[in-house]
Amino acid sequence: GKYRVISTKPMPGTRWINLLIEQDCRLEVCTQKKTILSVEDIIALIGNKCDGVIGQLTEDWGETLFSALSRAGGKAFSNMAVGYNNVDVNAASKYGVAVGNTPGVLTETTAELAASLSLAAARRIVEADEFMRAGLYDGWLPHLFVGNLLKGQTVGVIGAGRIGSAYARMMILIDLDIAAYGKFLKANGEEPVTWKRATSMDEVLLEADVISLHPILDKTTYHLVNKERLSKMKKEAILINCSRGPVIDEVALVEHLRANPMFRVGLDVFEDEPHMKPGLAEMKNAVIVPHIASASKWTREGMATLAALNVLGKIKGYPVWSNPNSVEAFLDENSPPPA
Ligand code: GLV
Ligand code: GLV
Repeated sequence: GKYRVISTKPMPGTRWINLLIEQDCRLEVCTQKKTILSVEDIIALIGNKCDGVIGQLTEDWGETLFSALSRAGGKAFSNMAVGYNNVDVNAASKYGVAVGNTPGVLTETTAELAASLSLAAARRIVEADEFMRAGLYDGWLPHLFVGNLLKGQTVGVIGAGRIGSAYARMMILIDLDIAAYGKFLKANGEEPVTWKRATSMDEVLLEADVISLHPILDKTTYHLVNKERLSKMKKEAILINCSRGPVIDEVALVEHLRANPMFRVGLDVFEDEPHMKPGLAEMKNAVIVPHIASASKWTREGMATLAALNVLGKIKGYPVWSNPNSVEAFLDENSPPPA
């Protein structure tokens, strides 16, 4: 192959591999056992000739890596994720590296996890499962694992983009009212879902029985859910986060869970991954899973394929997928899933 392309991790499926090798690329996949590669590890992988890299959300793609990639002649980087808070897009453009992400293919899969966590929290499924496995079930009782009925309640969606809209569509099926706040997919006009546009976040916090967070992580959404906002939510509310950990002040959340045993939370992401803030793991009113919202086979293969197309598109100058120097352009809901 003419072009040297690196993937910092093995990824699901084979289509992404074939796409690259059929189009003049020599693909190198890092198979180091270490889960999270450091900046130094990645610099070593890049070496002195590298045309493009497919990287992961656990890696810190800032100034140091983009300058190393640029020195190696690299012009393309794709995150295998829709979120790109781990990528310094300004640094990338400074070094002439185009950046891509993988929207679209993970929308429904992520929304399905948010819906699963909502139901699991409402009906205390994880606690009940632990109870069964511990051999504690000794007969049906009227009070055993009584949870919340969702039908007729209000769901609040904060961050009303692709994933938030897909989640809302799923929740409507169980006959919930939806109120939404945040950046909307469509500035005006046709809504992807029937919901009430809240005019403030407080309106959602005060009214909703279930609140699901779907914003991107940036300076404006860091600790969006803090102590003060938690205190505005209903005592028996359910809070779901499948976006990014730092959107919630996790220390404040642990305190809130401790003080309000009827408040429940479903978390896929954590402020300081892979760690949890002290006390969270002991809270019975928390359902916690390890950042698996996009983890369906179809989606993960789609993400890998899209990441490969991003890098290939830039290297070969195809007018598809890759948009030089702007991630935002990938955030187009009309991007079809890869063929
Ligand atoms: C996963 O968290 C993603 O952003 O794709
Ligand atoms: C519960 O199992 C019932 O039959 O009401």
